[in-house]
Amino acid sequence: MESGNTYWRDRALLEWQVELGATEAILDAPLDRYALEAVRPAAKPSVTPQTPQTPQPPEPPMQVALNAVVIAGQAAAMAQDLSALATAMEAFDHCELKRGARSFVFSDGNPAARVMIVGEAPGREEDRAGKPFVGRAGQLLDRMFDAIGMGRAQEDPALALYITNVLPWRPPSNRTPDATEIAMMLPFLERHITLADPQVIVLMGNTPCQALLGRTGITRMRGQWTEVLGKPCLPMLHPAYLLRNPIAKRETWADLLDLRARLLTT
Ligand code: URA
Repeated sequence: MESGNTYWRDRALLEWQVELGATEAILDAPLDRYALEAVRPAAKPSVTPQTPQTPQPPEPPMQVALNAVVIAGQAAAMAQDLSALATAMEAFDHCELKRGARSFVFSDGNPAARVMIVGEAPGREEDRAGKPFVGRAGQLLDRMFDAIGMGRAQEDPALALYITNVLPWRPPSNRTPDATEIAMMLPFLERHITLADPQVIVLMGNTPCQALLGRTGITRMRGQWTEVLGKPCLPMLHPAYLLRNPIAKRETWADLLDLRARLLTT
């Protein structure tokens, strides 16, 4: 009676194959090469022999980042209005922050406003709400501007605010955006400013100063008027900084009065 154990038979077959010169086991199941021959398509006339493909080394991170900046520049330049810009920006796939964020946060307020505020990036509340500056710092920002009669809900462009950030996606744990993230989103921010065409720009804190002026040091830069894309621009202390350092509200009050005076003469 045939035993269930086929060890000796299998071993004999294997030894026979080794004797015939087989050096490798290639397939798990046997392959009938005669049957294969019958279905094989007729050989194609020979064409130019293919050069073997040399595996390409992965692109260095710097090149990847530079490519992303170029792609962002092209996408931003194609946008002819704010809604097209928001669509292009949301579709931009080269910023890793997009994968960790819950929302794409583009802007809030009145796009016709004379004043455009640029902040850093959404935090937890903004990521939840899909709107910039809605958390504690945002509420302070609203109170600050309310004190000079301005707000994001105002319909009159002279009193209204238009608000955006350097980055539309929340960085993990609210960390400061890095130079690569800023560089690849900058073409979108510049296009955003061009399309909204405000009369005055306010930069809230170091990150928008880094992005648009190429320097930081907000405690020295605040209150010093400068220019961005040919428009008057005022760096101010970020409201999150004011929450941690309430004594600095004095300087911010001076900056708000200066802004109001500037708007009266612009
Ligand atoms: N801080 C910012 O800079 N932007 C926001 O939208 C919220 C907090």
